[in-house]
Amino acid sequence: MDTKKMSQSRTVKAMLVLPPDSNALGTMFGGKVMSYIDDIASISAFRHCRQQIVTASTDSVDFLYPISVGAMICMESFVTWTHKTSMEIYVNVISENLKTGERMVCASSFLTFVAIDENGKTQTVPQVIPETEFEKELHNSAPERYKRRMERKSQSKKLAEKFPVERLK
Ligand SMILES: CC(C)(COP(=O)(O)OP(=O)(O)OC[C@H]1O[C@@H](n2cnc3c(N)ncnc32)[C@H](O)[C@@H]1OP(=O)(O)O)[C@@H](O)C(=O)NCCC(=O)NCCS
Repeated sequence: MDTKKMSQSRTVKAMLVLPPDSNALGTMFGGKVMSYIDDIASISAFRHCRQQIVTASTDSVDFLYPISVGAMICMESFVTWTHKTSMEIYVNVISENLKTGERMVCASSFLTFVAIDENGKTQTVPQVIPETEFEKELHNSAPERYKRRMERKSQSKKLAEKFPVERLK
């Protein structure tokens, strides 16, 4: 079985928060942050498996602190666990006040990506090897998160089947 170290999918991106990214309060739009999270996570997933991937789900995104216009955000993501065809990615968004240097984790999330071929058929992915204590903690706790995700998906499917799509006309 093909394996990759967790650090091989580590991806880092820094950017300045500008007015078009903000809401009326002068802080960053949550939707913009979510879009950046999906973007960087997709790079980590692609790097891990070197195959086409799609987002299967995003776990809750916790917005811990607002991010002000003029701040720098730095995002980091990496693959924390794999099953057969799916990969769990952990993303952290850190804001830095460029004047004071103060940094804090403003948002974090786990996402799941699935590898597919050109016909959309799911493909197996390499296993991931954790090295540091923190990586091992994330890796060991992943099966429980996978289980909860599968339960959530099953509930979402049941509700979706009941949703009266006909009324959206
Ligand atoms: C994600 C997708 C490929 C899964 O395909 P599927 O036919 O449902 O396949 P399966 O049920 O066999 O699941 C395949 C893998 O996806 C995982 N998966 C499926 N739905 C999931 C979900 N909602 N959350 C997390 N993992 C999920 C399964 O656990 C399985 O992982 P494993 O092989 O590692 O055990 C398919 O549902 C899809 O294409 N969804 C739309 C994706 C999309 O358009 N994303 C947004 C734009 S990129």
